[in-house]
Amino acid sequence: MSSAPFLVTPLDATHDRTVFNSGSEPLDRYFREGVAQDIRRRVTACFIALAGGQRIAGYYTLASASFLLADLPATTAKKLPRYPTVPVVRMGRLAIDQKFKGQGLGGALLADALDRATRSEIAAYALMVDAKDEVAAAFYRHHGFLALPDLPLTLFLPLATAAAPRKTDNKRFGPI
Ligand SMILES: CC(C)(COP(=O)(O)OP(=O)(O)OC[C@H]1O[C@@H](n2cnc3c(N)ncnc32)[C@H](O)[C@@H]1OP(=O)(O)O)[C@@H](O)C(=O)NCCC(=O)NCCS
Repeated sequence: MSSAPFLVTPLDATHDRTVFNSGSEPLDRYFREGVAQDIRRRVTACFIALAGGQRIAGYYTLASASFLLADLPATTAKKLPRYPTVPVVRMGRLAIDQKFKGQGLGGALLADALDRATRSEIAAYALMVDAKDEVAAAFYRHHGFLALPDLPLTLFLPLATAAAPRKTDNKRFGPI
C-alpha cells in the first residue's frame, strides 16, 4: 500500500493514459480512446488522481444530466417542484487502477466529485451514477447513494445532504 499523496487534477493532453488498467476493459478503452474527444466536444469533464506526480491511479467523469421526477422515490419527489425533470450531475465513469485499489482512492474520488458538484454555480439536486453492475452499485450504496425504485443500477445522492470534504483543483490529499 502506498502512503504517498495523490494529486487530483483535470485530465489534459500531457497525461499518459496508455498504461491505465482498472481491470474493466470498457472503462479502460473509453479512457484510452474516447474521453479526449468527449472533453473537446464539451459533453464530459474528466478528473484524474496522479500518484508520484505522473502515474494515473484513477479517473472519473462528470456531466450535466436530468432525472424524470416520476422516476424518483415518492418521498423524494414530493419535496421537489412539480417540473417533469430534476437537474442532476452524472458521474458517468469511475475507475481505479488495479495497483491502487483498496487504498481509499475510489471513496476519495467520489468525495471529490460530490465537492465539485456542490461547489458549482449551476444548481443540481443530486450526484447520480449508472453503476455498471451490482458490485459497483454496492460501492455506491456503501457511500449513502439510493437506488431509483425501478432502476436498481441508477443511484443518486442529494447534494444538500452530502457531507463532502472540500478540495480544489491541483490540491494534494492523502495519505488516504
Ligand atoms: C469500485 C471502485 C471504484 C472502488 O475503488 P477503491 O479505491 O478500490 O475503493 P476504496 O478503497 O476507496 O473503498 C472505499 C470504501 O468502499 C468500500 N467498497 C469498495 N468496493 C466496494 C463494493 N464493491 N461494495 C461495497 N463496498 C465497497 C470499501 O470497503 C471502503 O469502505 P470503508 O471506507 O468503510 O473502509 C474500484 O474497485 C474500481 O475501479 N472498480 C472497477 C470499475 C468500477 O466498478 N467502477 C464503478 C462505477 S461504474
